Amino acid sequence: MPNSIVLGTGSYAPERILTNADLERLVATNSDWIISRTGIRERRVAADHEATSDLAAAAARKALDCAGVAPEDVDMIVVGTVTGDTPTPSCAAFVQELLGARNAFCFDVAAACAGSIYGLTIADQFIRSGMVRRALVIGAETLSRFVDWTNRETCVLFGDAAGAILLGATEEEGHGLLAATLRTDGSMTGILGIFGGGSRRPASSEMLLDNGNKIRMRGREVYKVATRLLPDVVAETLAKAGLSPDDVDHVICHQANQRIIESALENLGVPREKCWINIDRYGNTSSASMPISLDEASRAGRLKRGDVIAMMAIGAGMTWGGAVLRW
Ligand SMILES: CC(C)(COP(=O)(O)OP(=O)(O)OC[C@H]1O[C@@H](n2cnc3c(N)ncnc32)[C@H](O)[C@@H]1OP(=O)(O)O)[C@@H](O)C(=O)NCCC(=O)NCCS
Repeated sequence: MPNSIVLGTGSYAPERILTNADLERLVATNSDWIISRTGIRERRVAADHEATSDLAAAAARKALDCAGVAPEDVDMIVVGTVTGDTPTPSCAAFVQELLGARNAFCFDVAAACAGSIYGLTIADQFIRSGMVRRALVIGAETLSRFVDWTNRETCVLFGDAAGAILLGATEEEGHGLLAATLRTDGSMTGILGIFGGGSRRPASSEMLLDNGNKIRMRGREVYKVATRLLPDVVAETLAKAGLSPDDVDHVICHQANQRIIESALENLGVPREKCWINIDRYGNTSSASMPISLDEASRAGRLKRGDVIAMMAIGAGMTWGGAVLRW
């Protein structure tokens, strides 16, 4: 049975930088508060002409270049996103067109900040089944379009970006994706989400005036849940792969809050230095943050063949997961 290895990675962040000082001019906040509570110093904001598929395609092109694979040789494109260009068609279909990846079947995964770990696991299953040889897994978001810029509790947190991972089939055992765990607890749907604009509360002028199409979050609850669930899911996934936290060489994870990451690492028993952290530069880019981190760590020469990489992410739902990869 084949398994999946990473053939290439890529990422893209829009040019426009929004610093904490810029936000001080928008809402009653201050940079020291933001840095000490979250680790964020700046985030990116997409240009008016950029939609999520544009960011996704830019990241995907870099992943294809990195692997030396032509767009026509991609069999599947899965985009983790909750901020697609349109409710339908899928963001992945727009990405296919932008790339010219005409042989790929395409769909989105709505697993919020866990979108990439879900996408990775789904693509891996297609590869293991033999149905797919090469799969593009993309996490892409333009959260700036769904942030309430008058709400200091959320607007300081999020940013726009995309990351892409090209997975390929290999017959070589012991490399690539070794194990994954996906979880959801729908009893927590109320603590984080975009609650307007769907069938429950369709778009209307009243809904828009109420900012119903913007992110709503009970931050403290999300924080507690994330710090509790992330270390457990990684430990469980490592055990499935016959490994322990001591075997982990690198942690590549969703960047929601530096304190959440540090707490999860401490509970897991993995030193902070093993984790690639870039939340200071991008903020929380939801499904994009994990593939961006993998791309940056790879391009920085941090990842050596044979290294064990533990991955973790959590988002609205609550929806979360862990994965273990041998580079
Ligand atoms: C949002 C978050 C940073 C808030 O940090 P916190 O330490 O929990 O802060 P609290 O919510 O307890 O708020 C503390 C105070 O800071 C204030 N505050 C909130 N946002 C602020 C901001 N941007 N600037 C300044 N003060 C702010 C609050 O109003 C509160 O004031 P009060 O004590 O007078 O009521 C934190 O809860 C968090 O990161 N949660 C998880 C968010 C997340 O990861 N979401 C995405 C998951 S994928």
